[in-house]
Amino acid sequence: MRHEHGGNIYAKKCDIDFSSNINPLGMSENVKKAFINSFEMSVFYPDPECTELRKKLSLKEKVDFSNIICSNGAAELIFSICFALKPQKALLASPCFAEYEQALNACGCVIERYVLKEENGFCFDEGFLNKITYDTDIVFFTNPNNPTGVLANAEYVDKLAERCLKTNTIIVFDECFLDFVLDSENYSAKRFLDNKNIIILKAFTKFYAMPGLRLGYGLFAEKDIALKVRSAMQTWSVSTPAQMAGIAALDDGIKYKKTVDYIENEKKYILSRISNLAYKVYGHSANFIFFKEMEDFDKLMLEKGILIRSCKNYNSLNGSFYRIAVKSRKDNERLIKAWTEIKRG
Ligand SMILES: Cc1ncc(COP(=O)(O)O)c(C=O)c1O
Repeated sequence: MRHEHGGNIYAKKCDIDFSSNINPLGMSENVKKAFINSFEMSVFYPDPECTELRKKLSLKEKVDFSNIICSNGAAELIFSICFALKPQKALLASPCFAEYEQALNACGCVIERYVLKEENGFCFDEGFLNKITYDTDIVFFTNPNNPTGVLANAEYVDKLAERCLKTNTIIVFDECFLDFVLDSENYSAKRFLDNKNIIILKAFTKFYAMPGLRLGYGLFAEKDIALKVRSAMQTWSVSTPAQMAGIAALDDGIKYKKTVDYIENEKKYILSRISNLAYKVYGHSANFIFFKEMEDFDKLMLEKGILIRSCKNYNSLNGSFYRIAVKSRKDNERLIKAWTEIKRG
């Protein structure tokens, strides 16, 4: 069974989509131009090596060209890592992004779950570390976590990297939302890229607002592992429009620099308004907010044209948990208005 994600505006008609967490500043003009220009080039096959894009990523990330793999969204890499490395036993937190489970199931891997506790604000704790043993082949760890919005601190990231090195476990640090966090480099696992067992996942999808183009990448500590994963992928998985848009996005630093401040400001606005509305608010370290509300709150919101993410189908959550994106002030005001009306009855 496929897991239903946020952002499915095709199945759920709405005026505003708060269910997928995309940069509200939108796609930059340069990216749009690059996308249009890619039209002419699309009569040719895409560059299978994503050479230009990887060169730019190598400079940005300060990671060797051959340790970087580009993919059809970060989601493709999750599947390719599983197919290539064929782990027998994996550890996942509950709740976490559902594609890990989907990919691990598809390659026949046994999944052990560690339930993050509500009373602990869904924070990662020692219990998760203790679950990593010598027979754990792979761990997927999302920072900040989706859907909980909880950010693990640098000390915890250190402990996790250390533990996985000791147990010879591959650890995939999914940092697809980390660019939205203030001083993000302090929380990144990039400083452990000397450890041979580390993979870092990143996406253009959210920060550069291009979910429809499908572009992600992985930073691999080990060239051999990178090669193995690349061999499990089809040759032309990243289209020419996606490659050209990605190059333009990396060239357009100015627009995206404003993002973190913008998100912080709008998040403050939403949090101040919902503190008296929501049953309880949990994590909000990235560009989304995780909270508890009445059953069917998503349906009531949809009646007002607003699509929010019910987290009912996440492992270990129930129908009282929801996630909303942080969007533009105009959209956020509409969200608060609808929420207030629902609460007034
Ligand atoms: C934590 C996390 N990792 C990876 C992805 C996949 O990103 P992409 O759309 O680039 O495939 C998502 C998408 O929602 C996500 O939430």
